[in-house]
Amino acid sequence: ATITAEATLHADQPGPQISRYVYGQFSEHLGAGIYDGVWVGEDSDIPNTRGIRNDVVAALKAVKVPVIRWPGGCFADEYIWRDGIGPRDKRPVRKNNWWGGSPETNRFGSHEFFDFAEQIGADAYLAVNVGSATPTVMREWIEYLTSPGEDDLARERRRNGRDQPFKVPFVGIGNESWGCGGAMTPEYYSNEYRRFQEFFHKNADNPAVRVASGANGSNTEWTDVVMKNVGNKRMDAISVHYYTLPTGDWKKKGAATGFSRQEWYDTMHWTLRMDEILKNHIAVMDKHDPEKIVGLYVDEWGTWYDVEEGTNPGHLYQLNTLRDAVVAAANFNIFHKHAERVRMANIAQTVNVLQAMILTDGAKMVLTPTYYAFKMYVPFQDSVYLPLDVSAPLVTSGNRAIPSFNASAARGKDGKTYLAVTNLTVDDDLSLSVNLGSLQARKVSGEVLTASKMDALNEMGAAETVKPVVFKGAKLNGGKLALRIPAKSVVVVGLE
Ligand code: AHR
Repeated sequence: ATITAEATLHADQPGPQISRYVYGQFSEHLGAGIYDGVWVGEDSDIPNTRGIRNDVVAALKAVKVPVIRWPGGCFADEYIWRDGIGPRDKRPVRKNNWWGGSPETNRFGSHEFFDFAEQIGADAYLAVNVGSATPTVMREWIEYLTSPGEDDLARERRRNGRDQPFKVPFVGIGNESWGCGGAMTPEYYSNEYRRFQEFFHKNADNPAVRVASGANGSNTEWTDVVMKNVGNKRMDAISVHYYTLPTGDWKKKGAATGFSRQEWYDTMHWTLRMDEILKNHIAVMDKHDPEKIVGLYVDEWGTWYDVEEGTNPGHLYQLNTLRDAVVAAANFNIFHKHAERVRMANIAQTVNVLQAMILTDGAKMVLTPTYYAFKMYVPFQDSVYLPLDVSAPLVTSGNRAIPSFNASAARGKDGKTYLAVTNLTVDDDLSLSVNLGSLQARKVSGEVLTASKMDALNEMGAAETVKPVVFKGAKLNGGKLALRIPAKSVVVVGLE
């Protein structure tokens, strides 16, 4: 069937900036997320620059990754930064306790991470160990990285090959401190945060945004206690993590491919909860920080399925289909809506882990549907939010009723007006009439990402089946834009 709907754009009422950082990535020492996925070593036959894969770097540069979070995740609260500096063949091998007990060779450490971030043109976002280390360990790592002086830590960095300080614009003080980061109560974490913060020494050498470890999904109590006990002078942002599971059940999450129509709708239902989760955390933040100084960083989000059969359950390897691209775009539209507070988001994770942009197999690499959703939304990076009134008719499947689509609009840095529409249904085309109000547009052009099967994916070594193509379903007619959006698709158009 075809769903008919209307929308009104208010181009004359520009809102906040949509930070480019909501298009951020997260790369943890987990499975093949770093080793094989990013780091192959200088002696590898796989083309690399100083050990970092050229194909992966080129692909990430093309989607303008603005920020990359590292080294975890749960890994961060066991990470010993000293293990990852100095001659690589002398670095210790540790056990990666959180992720399959796999050997952690420390071949990829601080210098390699910053090299990677610099090669892809992304800002660095470090997560420091709060759960099992001390404020001294944190302070020394930051000084090692950022000191321009003649102290021993700066000298050691220089001896290890880096003269100029690294740029560290973002630092997370712990990760999931309510869980793998130390199983703390919000009261206890608040005290720990305050103690670590005191030795953080935010100053000209270390101007980093201080990010407090935030809530698990909808748990606003965490946000409430931390905001109250830490306040908006000692932190610059607080995070929140929310993952999309088709079943909503951690014991049996659901498969990445071969899922049912109902599972598609269940997945959309759970992913759209992001809107309410953000709204509720923001309401709590507004109470403690009405000046809106503290940003809300969704520094882990994305789909989480049962791992692919035959793979290490601790390596979180999953395939990525059209459904993931639709999930990604639906979340982007939600992030835009909350742009005033939501100033960063980091999808989990960049390569070979969870909702990845890229999957690799030896020398081979494939770009996932999610990668292409990120690519299509590049014009929204640092754009200005434009209100778009929509009321999406509901679609039902089983006991689920979800909006048939979600959408957002913005004025891009190039001066064009961009409109993104995500059709969340499996079978229904959408006929959307957008009243452009004061916007005078002469030309419309754009791209669509869709496929005939709802679990279509790109296969390693084969022609891509899910990639954006020219969108032919847009027509300008006076002050109106008529869009014909196919079922299960992502559309982005630019108006000029
Ligand atoms: O992204 C995988 C894991 O999910 C992270 O390490 C952790 O922070 C979260 O529980």
